[in-house]
Amino acid sequence: MSELPEKQDYPVDRVRRFLEPGPTVLVSSAWKGETNVMTLGWHIVLGLTPSLVGLRVHAATHSHAMIRDSGECVINLPTTALTDTVVGIGNCSGRDVDKFAQFGLTRQPAAMVGAPLIGECHACFECRLHDDSLADRYNFFVFEVVKAHVAPLPDHPETLHYTGDCTFMLAGRTITRRELFRREMV
Ligand SMILES: Cc1cc2nc3c(=O)[nH]c(=O)nc-3n(C[C@H](O)[C@H](O)[C@H](O)COP(=O)(O)O)c2cc1C
Repeated sequence: MSELPEKQDYPVDRVRRFLEPGPTVLVSSAWKGETNVMTLGWHIVLGLTPSLVGLRVHAATHSHAMIRDSGECVINLPTTALTDTVVGIGNCSGRDVDKFAQFGLTRQPAAMVGAPLIGECHACFECRLHDDSLADRYNFFVFEVVKAHVAPLPDHPETLHYTGDCTFMLAGRTITRRELFRREMV
């Protein structure tokens, strides 16, 4: 058996570095003729049918009000080709700038929600607000994905995974253990 890794005390406010494996996304919104987009790393899948995703959108952001008022958003999946744009979008507010114009992003109409799809992204998931009962306490919104648009290739795009401290992990190699999974788990 391999040696057990020796561990040391670690600051609890930095454990995010190890627990945030999900891809950084761009959340677009629309309200009263205005569109906006923010960078978001804190999300979690909460159900498959219906397809539920939880997003933590800080109350101080312009997106928070737009998402809450419209009850809709689009979760867009950027790849490493958009790395600088992802950081730039997270560094400014739609209160001050039109981020679609500033970062040269293409707005495309969604089928089921008012928020725009971002043409440059690998995938776009149209969402309707499902539950905002934790919004006041945790800035947490549960959305239902009502329509998904995905580029067929590559199957596993090189996504950005934010670990804090200005650092992203990149999606890399994939491995499968299909033979070890119980059928009902697949
Ligand atoms: C890599 C990265 C990840 C971020 N993740 C989140 C997040 O999960 N939730 C959040 O509220 N803000 C997050 N932010 C900050 C927002 O993107 C930022 O406050 C943005 O300027 C809000 O824009 P808005 O005011 O136009 O809505 C993140 C920023 C970066 C750069």
